[in-house]
Amino acid sequence: MREHTLTAHDFIYPVFITEGDGIKTPIASMPHQSRLSLDELLTVAQEAAALGIPALALFPVIDVDKKSLNGKEAYNPDGLVLRAIRLLKSHFPQLGIMTDVALDPYTSHGQDGVIDETGYVLNDETTEILVQQALCHADAGADIVAPSDMMDGRIGAIRTALETESFIHTRIMSYAAKYASHFYGPFRDAVGSSGNLGKADKKTYQMDYANVNEALHEVALDLSEGADMVMVKPGMPYLDVVRAVKDEFKVPTFAYQVSGEYAMIHAAAQNSWLDLEACMLESLMSFKRAGADGILTYFALDAARALNKG
Ligand code: PBG
Repeated sequence: MREHTLTAHDFIYPVFITEGDGIKTPIASMPHQSRLSLDELLTVAQEAAALGIPALALFPVIDVDKKSLNGKEAYNPDGLVLRAIRLLKSHFPQLGIMTDVALDPYTSHGQDGVIDETGYVLNDETTEILVQQALCHADAGADIVAPSDMMDGRIGAIRTALETESFIHTRIMSYAAKYASHFYGPFRDAVGSSGNLGKADKKTYQMDYANVNEALHEVALDLSEGADMVMVKPGMPYLDVVRAVKDEFKVPTFAYQVSGEYAMIHAAAQNSWLDLEACMLESLMSFKRAGADGILTYFALDAARALNKG
């Protein structure tokens, strides 16, 4: 009688990576999650693959001295993300690697793009840099590039560049409907961009949470520009948007259960106000009910373990 199922195959696991060796620094606002040096990343990747999780999503923690106004470290061919992709692909070729295309870990001001003197994020100048970043990821072996920056026209520009450079197998997952959400706080702490961003916000390029038609418009644009898959972000407070996107376009639709959603379930569990495992699984099934084909979630390992044992 059960209408929906949840398995380890539904998850993409976002991981935070950092320079160094033997480093596994816990993230205070995200229990069970750490910043991992590349050797530690291999251990986690092996576990994810053994649990049946199809892909990891990489998020770098960039040293302060490598951050700049224009985020040029994003396309340094020897940068942290590119080394991580090559290492993972050499050890676990069957494990999918998804990369974040956006400049916020790399900019000294914490915005996803380059800014003018007033702090306004410049769309077209940013897109040119994102194309360089996406090409580097594809060249290193990323299976999926995932622009999370929300610039207009970047999917088309990245798709054209990938085709031109013969990266015909690289898929694009567009963060198509990404809201200017307050649920990203723990993530910004984890990658160390909250200090850079300060009191600024991302409302000139991320979406107003009052809007749903705009989400459909954004998805339509990204699909017409060549996205293979689209994403709605955050997750639980936006399941109506997931359902609307899936019903309207019937394309592979993903949702991101973001850091703040993860943190609030853990915080309640730490107070013994909620049962962690039960609420984790219930929250993840709600994405499937809403029509999501896959879920980016920091619960991926814990949920896969729980599901495999059950
Ligand atoms: C930025 C990016 C963010 C997240 C993923 N990519 C944060 C932001 O837009 O500030 C958030 C993920 C999370 O909160 O778990 N390119």
